[in-house]
Formats: sequence, structure tokens, C-alpha cells
Amino acid sequence: MVLKVFRWSPGSRERLQKYWVKARQGMTVLDALVELQRNSDATLAFRYACRVGMCGSCAMVVNGRERWACRTLLSNLARGPVTVRPLYQFPLIRDLVVDMAPIKNKMLEMKAVFVPGRRAMDGDGFAQIGSRTRERRAIDAAIECIGCGMCVSACTMVSHDPNFPGPAALNRVFTLQRDSRDGAHADRSQAVLAEDVLTRCHGQANCTAVCPMEISPTDSILALRRRAVLRLFGIGPR
Ligand code: SF4
Ligand code: FES
Repeated sequence: MVLKVFRWSPGSRERLQKYWVKARQGMTVLDALVELQRNSDATLAFRYACRVGMCGSCAMVVNGRERWACRTLLSNLARGPVTVRPLYQFPLIRDLVVDMAPIKNKMLEMKAVFVPGRRAMDGDGFAQIGSRTRERRAIDAAIECIGCGMCVSACTMVSHDPNFPGPAALNRVFTLQRDSRDGAHADRSQAVLAEDVLTRCHGQANCTAVCPMEISPTDSILALRRRAVLRLFGIGPR
């Protein structure tokens, strides 16, 4: 099988380099890259950690779609050349490795950081939100974000408007706004009202389509928008 792998390092030109891989049963895109790096080209750069679909660090674009390389079987891809390139929307570091700092920076801009509020502590220490409570169930799916960046890569509005925080940061805002232990709801409510935030999402759901954790950042953004509208009419929570 032919793999066309994106290559770039500072000072060089972007190119797709062709490699030949003998695809074995059960071989993933990550297995193929590791094999190439070990046996053919030690200069090939890519990132991975867990190798079992937990950490998200192997996120890349394979045959035009964001995927985690360690969970993508070569046998499930088209028989023609398999194209592998880095995530879109992130600064390149080298080959398939991108700088993930924009996710953290957008979260900081949106104040998507837990701030202990009045209900953060109870008599026994840090307050717990029971797994069966309504509060927890409302955010159950959304808190599973592993920060892989696939949703950001797939989001057309991120490419269109650099001020748009993007699906990952807004998904995080959603989880914090529904957390009764957090004390910064008002600040975040103000932040999401800025011009380039909630109104920029056009609901195309590309983020939701590629999220490996089956999170729907689209739904999180819609929920934030509903709360913002209710707040504007003075009838919603903060
Ligand atoms: S929402 Fe999904 S796709 Fe986006 S960073 Fe989190 S886990 Fe990755
Ligand atoms: S290496 Fe951790 S998800 Fe792929």
C-alpha cells in the first residue's frame, strides 16, 4: 500500500512523500508510520502516546478526514494511496506534528478554567456532583473531551475567523457553565457575548462529525446560545 505523507520542516517546502508499506491484518495508520520511521526514514516526525485511542495525541488528517491514527485501520481506508497530513488550523512544528497551544489559548481567552465558587466545598471537602444527578447528566458526554483538536481542524469557521474560539473551547465553557461548584459563570457569560463567539458558529457540525469521543460541540454551542438568549431577556440562569 502506498502512503503519501506530508513532510515539512522549518526552511523546507511542504511536500507529500510517497512510502510503500506492506499492510498486515489489523495494521493501523500509526503502526504504518512507526514501521516507516523505524525501517525507512528516521526523520519522519509524528506524535503519539497511548496507542489505544485514549490520549488523542495521534490526531491527524487521513484521506481528508480527521482521525486518530492509532484507531484507524488501513483495511478500512480506500485501496488507493492513503494520504496523511497534520491537523488543519494549528501551527506546524514539523511533518505531522502541530502546536496544540491554540486550544489552551482559546480556553484561557474564554475563561474556560474552573474557578472554585461558594458551592465548591462542602463539609467533607471538595463538593461532589453525583453521577446520576441532573446536573451531571447534562454535561456527561461533553466532559469526555481529550483535547485532541480534531474538531478545531474540521471547523470551517475557525479557518474563516481567527477570533472564533472554536468548538473545543466552547464545549469546555458549556461544561463549566453547568457546574454549580464553579464561581465564574458571570465572567464567562460576558465572554461568550463577544461578537466573534456564539454567533460565528453556523451549526455545520463538522466538529461533531469528527470527534472521536462522540461529543457534540455543536450541541454545546447551541445550549450556550439558548442560555445567552434567555439571559438577554432576563429569564435565564447566568
Ligand atoms: S471535542 Fe472531541 S474532537 Fe474536539 S478536542 Fe474534544 S475530544 Fe477532540
Ligand atoms: S496514541 Fe493516544 S489516542 Fe492515538
